[in-house]
Amino acid sequence: MCGIVGYTGNRRVVPVLLEGLRRLEYRGYDSAGLVYEYDNQLVKFRAAGKLINLEQAVDENIGVASHTGLGHTRWATHGAPTRDNAHPHSDCTGELVVVHNGIIENYGRLKEELLAEGHTFSSETDTEVLAHLIEKYLDDDLATAVRQALARVEGSYALGVFWVKEPHKLVAARNQSPLVMGVDDDACYIASDIPALLPFTRQVIFLDDNELVVLEQGTYSITNVADGREIKKEIRTIDWNPAMAEKGGFKHFMLKEIFEQPQAILNTISGRIVPDTGEIDLPEIGLSNDEIRDIERIALVACGTSWHAALVAKYWIEKWVGIPVDVDIASEFRYRRLLVSERVLTISISQSGETADTLAGIRLAASLGSKIVTICNVVGSTMTREADGVIYTHAGPEIGVASTKAFTSQLTALFMLTLYLGQERQTIEQETLKELGSALVDVAAVIDTILPRVQQQVQGLIERYYDSRDFLFVGRGLNFPIALEGALKLKEISYIHAEGYAAGELKHGPIALIDKDMPVMALVPKDAVYQKTVSNVEEIKARQGRLLLIGTEGDSHLATLTDDVLYLPEVHEELNPLLYTIPAQLLSYEIANRRGCDVDQPRNLAKSVTVE
Ligand code: G6P
Repeated sequence: MCGIVGYTGNRRVVPVLLEGLRRLEYRGYDSAGLVYEYDNQLVKFRAAGKLINLEQAVDENIGVASHTGLGHTRWATHGAPTRDNAHPHSDCTGELVVVHNGIIENYGRLKEELLAEGHTFSSETDTEVLAHLIEKYLDDDLATAVRQALARVEGSYALGVFWVKEPHKLVAARNQSPLVMGVDDDACYIASDIPALLPFTRQVIFLDDNELVVLEQGTYSITNVADGREIKKEIRTIDWNPAMAEKGGFKHFMLKEIFEQPQAILNTISGRIVPDTGEIDLPEIGLSNDEIRDIERIALVACGTSWHAALVAKYWIEKWVGIPVDVDIASEFRYRRLLVSERVLTISISQSGETADTLAGIRLAASLGSKIVTICNVVGSTMTREADGVIYTHAGPEIGVASTKAFTSQLTALFMLTLYLGQERQTIEQETLKELGSALVDVAAVIDTILPRVQQQVQGLIERYYDSRDFLFVGRGLNFPIALEGALKLKEISYIHAEGYAAGELKHGPIALIDKDMPVMALVPKDAVYQKTVSNVEEIKARQGRLLLIGTEGDSHLATLTDDVLYLPEVHEELNPLLYTIPAQLLSYEIANRRGCDVDQPRNLAKSVTVE
């Protein structure tokens, strides 16, 4: 996720910006830049790659006598991670610059309008549109122009704007992307997150959505973006240490990332579902209408957690689009006789876009004439460069090795892909499309509301489970892959031996393992296979298995089967996989934490597996 730092005060600005950016490195980034005013001009430095490259570009200017500026680390979402796409982005005159974190959903339409009016663009980013839009409205007051521009913008943003004509002033605003201000006697700061401020001040103001702030050395004013109404806000004193600050107060990155899921899901949906019509827009998919109509079969290829996302997608695509779907573990896909041809669409799913087996799999499929689409979280990664089309998940960088928000974002992207294929092949009616699209948006809100409560309930349970030697996870239908994912999460981070099974498969072997010492997490939502799953749960109970049930609120029958029931709200049945992932993730996390494991960096595992 991008990182923003801004400073206006008495210090020399460049070291402040670089130190702030260093403290935001944990957020993940692939390029960086900064800007300050000197001799009535804005001086801008940008570099692809790590901060050291930016420092080298800045070189002897580090001590320049300038006291106001902006810095940025970019996590690419629109356009490859190159120097030209790095922030700050300028307007046509070079007198105004913008740094931004978030996604401008209507940037395409705005860009067309601005191009027609004669603006010239020098990057592929959505952010640059903001610079030109503010330029369009700019007369003699920057804050007014920013307000007018933001009235035209749809999407999420944390924004820093700097204009050479007001060389000690910064304007910042936020909507759905984090932004915090730091205050000092003679200086003001803005930053995406607290760690950037801690070397300088512990006095902060958290900005809320639709707030705009004008900073000028030691003074500031906060107003409502839309109507300019003044807003009074409390200054808070932060007593976090730097490590706590990076994790946003969470003990581990994994827990932070579990809690970031509602936002990650919404970011992935952002700009792709038209709320009024339910229409799905996936222009980056790189397939013509004819190509979509001609698909005879889909091959989904992935590893690890991404493979579990693929398994869920098979249920969705076959049900709603009627195209047969094969799901393969990439290391198997590439070493069997592949019956793949031009009419087979191969889709790779990978959070990193670099997994060696998945990459080899799509290369093989491409050599047999298959079109390749990749679902990926890292812009510009090898897989995205080699594919014919890409659907980016916008989960932001995931730091915990065990995948959480990348997984639910993959499910989100795959569900939208299902809707898109159904729309293009006319297998889903308009009304249904609308219903399913809005159900997807709703599930993000539901996850947001249940997260703290479910964590608390899980914490209340783990004393009974944390020292288990083995663990089973079972589910049926759409929730069978979630059982697999739950088991993978638990074994990855707690080192407890865990297996996931289709509940109906229990009696073909695993039931022999059931006794009073075998914990079984069963996913039992009120769905089409509810009765069948309950029967399987009864079989476990009859053999004294230790049941931990996850079910739908109001289902009192589950409480007659065990004391350990976690209830989740009812959402659209198709979207249960997103919701039922949450307790499995939290159970794994809390058990691993209770066992004192290195949750974020489990032994023997790597975030990106670039070897076979
Ligand atoms: C590694 C990671 C897993 C991930 C798998 C596939 O094993 O630890 O979390 O699911 O690779 O990675 P990918 O980047 O292709 O999704």
